[in-house]
Amino acid sequence: MLDRLEELQREALQKVEQASELNDLKDVRVAYLGKKGPITEVLKGMGKLSAEERPKVGQKANEVRDEIKTAIEEKESRMEKEALDKKLKEESIDVTLPGRPVRRGNRHPLTAVVETVEDVFIGMGFSVAEGPEVETDYYNFESLNLPKDHPARDMQDTFFITSDLLLRTQTSPVQTRTMEKHEGQGPVKIICPGKVYRRDEDDATHSHQFMQIEGLMVDKNIRMSDLKGVLETFAKNYFGEDRKIRLRPSFFPFTEPSAEVDISCAICDGEGCRTCKQTGWIEVLGAGMVHPNVLKMGGFDPEVYSGFAFGMGVERLAMLRYGIDDIRHFYTNDMRFLSQFK
Ligand code: PHE
Repeated sequence: MLDRLEELQREALQKVEQASELNDLKDVRVAYLGKKGPITEVLKGMGKLSAEERPKVGQKANEVRDEIKTAIEEKESRMEKEALDKKLKEESIDVTLPGRPVRRGNRHPLTAVVETVEDVFIGMGFSVAEGPEVETDYYNFESLNLPKDHPARDMQDTFFITSDLLLRTQTSPVQTRTMEKHEGQGPVKIICPGKVYRRDEDDATHSHQFMQIEGLMVDKNIRMSDLKGVLETFAKNYFGEDRKIRLRPSFFPFTEPSAEVDISCAICDGEGCRTCKQTGWIEVLGAGMVHPNVLKMGGFDPEVYSGFAFGMGVERLAMLRYGIDDIRHFYTNDMRFLSQFK
């Protein structure tokens, strides 16, 4: 019996020695220490032994079992450690490698222009207002002195949604909306940047969607000279100290008198060149004194209050500032174009 046990021990330890995978060890454990293993068999047959032999065999059997168990456990933990070491070595991270740079984007040129213009007007005490792009016929036209069949509506070919709902063709409806909020009390000093829509054929200078910045100032004793001063300050801040402005008579149903405002050409300094079509001047915005009807519809008393308004095209401002020759560049999302405005 004792010899048999020793033999089993030798056998088992040898197999542990030879095991090259954790699974091999599992097999050894099951084979030698399992319920149907030879050691259990020996222990089961103990009843047949003499009283003298029994404790010796029992002790030996326990010893052998413990030896095998310990051998398996030691080998197991060695193999696990080796596996971990190998894994750590293979997956090592070189913390000294330089990081991958995060590419920084930039603002869209139109956003940059809007923010620059906002800064200039905020510096003059204006605040920034907003209004909806889906607008009612009332705010977009009627409240601006353009009743239903007014011929001047033809200048702004309109995307109608219903007979009363449309995509705003200008930011001017924000004039009325802002005046209503002030409930007849001045001063009102806002600019409003935003998208507008007209049913134009798209070409180098026209797009069915574009941006405007509206301006409105209403208070007691506001005069045309205030309009001129504000626009001149804007022109010098945006286009440079040397720029001059000029007002030409024009017509808008919501201003009286109305003016087109030109800025002296920065390319030729007023001499005449291709950019200004040899005139020395570049048209940048429409403006005028708020029509008494418009003040009234906005809830202001035209006997007490007066005001001026202006509207400019953002794309045009951007094209002049950056020398861009086609309005469609702003909307085609070509990174080669957009990433130039860092
Ligand atoms: N809304 C006018 C346009 O789109 C511009 C404008 C605004 C003119 C305010 C005068 C006063 O053409």
